[in-house]
Amino acid sequence: MPKKSILDFRRMKAEGEKVTWLTAYDYLEAKYEERAGVDMILVGDSVGMVDMGYATTFPVTMDEMISHAASVRRGAPNTFIVGDMPYMSYQISDEEAITNAGRFTQEALCDAIKLEGGGEEICKRIKAISSVGILVIGHIGLTPQFAATLGGYKAQGKSADAAKKLLDEALRIQEAGACILLVEGVPEVTGKLIASKLSIPVYGIGAGSYTDGQLLIYADMVGYYDDFTPKFVKRYAEVGQAMLKAFTDYVDEVRTGKFPIDGVHTYKISDDERAKVEELIGGKKKAPAKKTAAKKPAAKK
Ligand code: KIV
Repeated sequence: MPKKSILDFRRMKAEGEKVTWLTAYDYLEAKYEERAGVDMILVGDSVGMVDMGYATTFPVTMDEMISHAASVRRGAPNTFIVGDMPYMSYQISDEEAITNAGRFTQEALCDAIKLEGGGEEICKRIKAISSVGILVIGHIGLTPQFAATLGGYKAQGKSADAAKKLLDEALRIQEAGACILLVEGVPEVTGKLIASKLSIPVYGIGAGSYTDGQLLIYADMVGYYDDFTPKFVKRYAEVGQAMLKAFTDYVDEVRTGKFPIDGVHTYKISDDERAKVEELIGGKKKAPAKKTAAKKPAAKK
């Protein structure tokens, strides 16, 4: 399948065709997602929790994000890839925001970047980054980098007032030049409101079925990350359980001598050479010497 562009995503919104979006952090995940035909991949700063074992996304650095985004690009050369701007990579100034956004497109060959928030300062960053030709995806609602000001990881937009405030943010983000908006952790009707009022595509993670596309964290939906599972996640597999069984079986078989099996998991060697090696080990007798023609005695001078 050819790589989709922002033009495809605009057309898909116009035609009511849903966009599929998953996170990936490494080459292999990206490879399988591209094979499955996902439209977009997010190299999310959730890598900090899913891959690196942090309790939050705050410790993730730009260098780490670039390294992950570059391996995702190698795994999915024909998929639209979004680099997620980590904490403090865009908040400080327009210059830093442009520099770091540019690292995603230049060093990791991402197609777009995503950043969180819809306040005035963040909208300035969206404008600045868009002005140099980089596609920006906004992100509002339950935004993990703003967890402190939101009072924790709580669903947002749960009253008409709160939904209206989110819509105002969404419109500001669109006005600032974002090409797509992601809405996270809101009731379905709030997701519907925002998707229906914006002209740019609006995708949701935990925002119900009316948004123009869906995003999930891949490790949640395949049952790999099990520290906790958000309410909006559907598990499509139990990869963690499958891996646990494989690891446990391996440990058991190595300990009991069932793995590896000679001739099945080992390289071939001829019987002769095997016997000679056995002799070097010292445990077996030498193989019988092959018969060769007897040498004629040398003629007397
Ligand atoms: O980092 C991430 O994966 C995200 C999603 C939670 C939206 O930003």
